[in-house]
Amino acid sequence: MTEEQRNLPAPAEKLTPPTPRLSSPAPIQTHGLTAERVAKIVSQSGSARMTALLGIAVVTLFVLVYAFYDQGLPGVAGSSRMEAAREEIYLDTVKRGYNLYQANCARCHGEQGQGGIGPVLNDQGKLLAHLSPSYLHNVLTVGGRYICGDANSLMGVWADSNGGPLNYREIEELIAWIRATKDDVIKVLDPATGEMVEVTGWRDAAYEPAADATPVPACWKDAFAVSPSPSPSGGEPTPMPTDTAGGTGGSYTIVAMGVKFDLVTLEVEANKTFTLVFDNQDAGIPHNVAIHEGTASAVGKELWQGAIFPGVATQTYDVPAFAAGNYSFICTVHPNMVGDLVVK
Ligand code: HEC
Repeated sequence: MTEEQRNLPAPAEKLTPPTPRLSSPAPIQTHGLTAERVAKIVSQSGSARMTALLGIAVVTLFVLVYAFYDQGLPGVAGSSRMEAAREEIYLDTVKRGYNLYQANCARCHGEQGQGGIGPVLNDQGKLLAHLSPSYLHNVLTVGGRYICGDANSLMGVWADSNGGPLNYREIEELIAWIRATKDDVIKVLDPATGEMVEVTGWRDAAYEPAADATPVPACWKDAFAVSPSPSPSGGEPTPMPTDTAGGTGGSYTIVAMGVKFDLVTLEVEANKTFTLVFDNQDAGIPHNVAIHEGTASAVGKELWQGAIFPGVATQTYDVPAFAAGNYSFICTVHPNMVGDLVVK
């Protein structure tokens, strides 16, 4: 065989047309399916479609259910998982604030914010109009000076940005607790019993002050300056419907330690004006004295009030004359400071 002959294609190959790509040779394509096989293919593709539809239905249902679970049912408050998570984080903040309050503030403002050495905090009118988050923030950052402008205020600085002991998160947590409402329920440890107890916030979100309510003053001490018988100078006697011909009955001293009177009964002469020396053993705590009807255990209507004094060591009041009888004397700043006044 010559070189040329070897390179030529075989005669048979030359005659067959090239097989088209991606198709079977004619004999295979024309190979018929049995009727049985055709029926099977049709039924199989039918159930495959059903399976796919079912799959899509299941996925759609899941997406819908999950969306409602996550976002909440329309119109149903609190049904959303995200809302619930947010609420949980909020209550956690309130709880931390509660613990900070009990540890740092309760000794002066009372466990329930009912007041003590420091003014009351749980008053609804005050929570509504006075103790706003920004006010609380300023008080805790600047310290007591911010409250009534008293440079010697007993209330310290709390924010560490000003040298206080609490960081900005703790300040926010405290504010969250003071502003928490009666709907906010937290579980806390009761140190007395060692058991978990439920505690709610102080604020009533629905509270509205009476139309004739006295507006909350900017400085809490001003709330005590209002009296049925105001005596702004601190000692101006208000005339009483008694015979004062008896003259002056001398001077008496009442001693206050912290937020308590050290004596419970004071005896004075009837129908004589007298001088009351308020010996404040803890200078810095503001007090005053008022005389009420009724005894210490059943304090009645106020008859006379001496002006509040900003925590000086001694304050002298000129008290009007009273008819013989049993009365009580009370510090209106700290209504739990009360004693019996016997006039005879
Ligand atoms: C040593 C006692 C004491 C402690 C502790 C204390 N306070 Fe006070 N607080 C006071 C006194 C006293 C005043 C009033 C100060 C003034 O008028 O100068 C006051 C005033 C306030 C006021 C302003 C009230 C108003 O009616 O405007 C707020 C708010 C307050 N304190 C919050 C707190 C918080 C929160 C804490 C804890 C981090 C705290 N206090 C700890 C004594 C205290």
